Amino acid sequence: MTTPRFVPLTDVHRPSAPPEEAALAFYEVMRRRRTVREFSSRPVSRTTIERLVATAGSAPSGANKQPWRFVCVSDPQTKRAIREAAEAEERAFYAGRANAEWLADLEPLGTDADKAFLEVAPWLIVVFKLVRADDGGQVYYPTESVGLAAGLLLAAAHHAGLATLTHTPSPMAFLSEVLQRPDNERPFLLVPVGYPAEGCRVPVAALRRKPLDEIMVVR
Ligand SMILES: Cc1cc2nc3c(=O)[nH]c(=O)nc-3n(C[C@H](O)[C@H](O)[C@H](O)COP(=O)(O)O)c2cc1C
Repeated sequence: MTTPRFVPLTDVHRPSAPPEEAALAFYEVMRRRRTVREFSSRPVSRTTIERLVATAGSAPSGANKQPWRFVCVSDPQTKRAIREAAEAEERAFYAGRANAEWLADLEPLGTDADKAFLEVAPWLIVVFKLVRADDGGQVYYPTESVGLAAGLLLAAAHHAGLATLTHTPSPMAFLSEVLQRPDNERPFLLVPVGYPAEGCRVPVAALRRKPLDEIMVVR
């Protein structure tokens, strides 16, 4: 058994405002995040994407195994291959793989099998969940861990003035093939990142947020 080592906690984030104000300021930023499905082709630098991924990679994870990989795609041929495979799956999804309730729930969002954004957005960040560590060892709570990392990724992009789409073409196994990922990685989310297109519209149905008294219980 190894004896745990500790160091003093010195590198602490201290906002200039007290917690109530800092929390409100962050909420005011985050409440404006919107899933975007119409992207501009305006470039985003690789450095920006590296910083977003670094933020995602700062997430907590079960036993600090960091069971995630972020495959960042800007190559047009690869984006095209992803679009073609995603649209094939999505055509099958809308033509019957999804049940009636699911399709009805999607109707107000106006989504369909056309995924032009997969070629238009300057970057696609494909988030993979590691089901075994790279050295073959165990990982713990990988779904919770990668979900938290993905949340930070979206927040970081939004904070940087960029838009994202949380996309889950169903099923997503084609992403492992197109991107030639190893066996211990499973596709988790496909996140186009970029600027919204000029005149971009968002569905009214997606604007509604449950009020606090519906999502919060205090005891
Ligand atoms: C796990 C997950 C999967 C999603 N999959 C898709 C998808 O495949 N296609 C899509 O257009 N939107 C997808 N969305 C986006 C949701 O439709 C969107 O978050 C929701 O309508 C609320 O809108 P907002 O993100 O603008 O607040 C997904 C969101 C999540 C969290």
